[in-house]
Amino acid sequence: DKGGWSSFMAKEVSEEPEAVANTIRGRVHDGIVEIPELDGLDELFTDIDRIIVIACGTAAYAGMVGKYALEQWARVPVDVELAHEFRYRDPVIGARTLVVSISQSGETMDTLMAVKFAREAGAKTLSICNTQGATIPRESDAIVYTHAGPEVAVASTKAFVAQITALYLLALHVGRVRGALDAETIAAQVAQLEAVPEKIARVLATEQEHIEQFAHWMADTRSVIFLGRHVGYPIALEGALKLKEISYIHAEGFAAGELKHGPIALIEPGQPVFVMVPSPSSSPLLHAKVVSNIQEIRARGARIIAVAEEGDAAVLPFADEVLRIPLAEPLFEPLLAVVPLHIFAMGLATAKGLDVDQPRNLAKSVTVE
Ligand code: BG6
Repeated sequence: DKGGWSSFMAKEVSEEPEAVANTIRGRVHDGIVEIPELDGLDELFTDIDRIIVIACGTAAYAGMVGKYALEQWARVPVDVELAHEFRYRDPVIGARTLVVSISQSGETMDTLMAVKFAREAGAKTLSICNTQGATIPRESDAIVYTHAGPEVAVASTKAFVAQITALYLLALHVGRVRGALDAETIAAQVAQLEAVPEKIARVLATEQEHIEQFAHWMADTRSVIFLGRHVGYPIALEGALKLKEISYIHAEGFAAGELKHGPIALIEPGQPVFVMVPSPSSSPLLHAKVVSNIQEIRARGARIIAVAEEGDAAVLPFADEVLRIPLAEPLFEPLLAVVPLHIFAMGLATAKGLDVDQPRNLAKSVTVE
């Protein structure tokens, strides 16, 4: 039931605030993260020296965002790998490896086979999944469910923000169990996380119409580039994937720092480029670097669409369009910055008259390898 929305995707984007809130619920007590499903499983986190995150598609981008939090808060080295690449290259894993899989459906065959492979190699396994009782969680030593609710549209949206939320909760849980975090730091991060649903709701309330209009106006675009740095990089990849999936437009995401090592050659007059701009107050250094990237491509004629914090005036002279997100600490920006990109992809596909819920050639869960 679309509940009055024009598509499941529109409904699911509107549910992004609840997807985050419901994934946090019951897992925070007095400012401390305690995930009940992980009770008695401390050795999964204490007896390891590395984490490998495996997933496909959007879930893999959530994993890339999660890496920053797991390394910063839990101080464990993290690698993120596409599930289908993982088991065909003799990876170095064993009893001191925790393999964290991420899957909305819990049925993606590539991810399932990678989890089985990891278990057979003696690694510990934890599944982040949105579907109760699915196969991947059943094959794993531990489960952290995302509570995004059923996701029907093929392109993942609310599950993505729920996956990042679950990874952040996991990172704070592991950080506590491993003694890497003090209570004060955990409480501060929890407060930031708990503020996210209201901030996403604000993006939807203030930017949705503007972005949909803008997307309509961009309907003839043939190629879009997305740039991001740090946690903005996986968001750039997600923005590009969403556009490919549902609008059939050639789109690519790049790390902003990589621009000068190749992709800048693609910039010609009129090329639309979305730039995830880090917060000027909480990441001044990264902000300055990204603003200088904007100037470089602007000088070559790019049309800049900046996803920038409210009040960031530094982007104004160089941006053709500014999509605003509320203020947040760097690690929490992805949960906000992705929302305009989801709206944009949906708006553009709608403007082209496409079925946003059932894009051609794709299935919601891919149960073949
Ligand atoms: C793809 C879907 O086939 O599978 C993507 O089109 C999705 O939207 C990916 O991100 C992974 O799916 P899941 O269920 O494992 O998260």
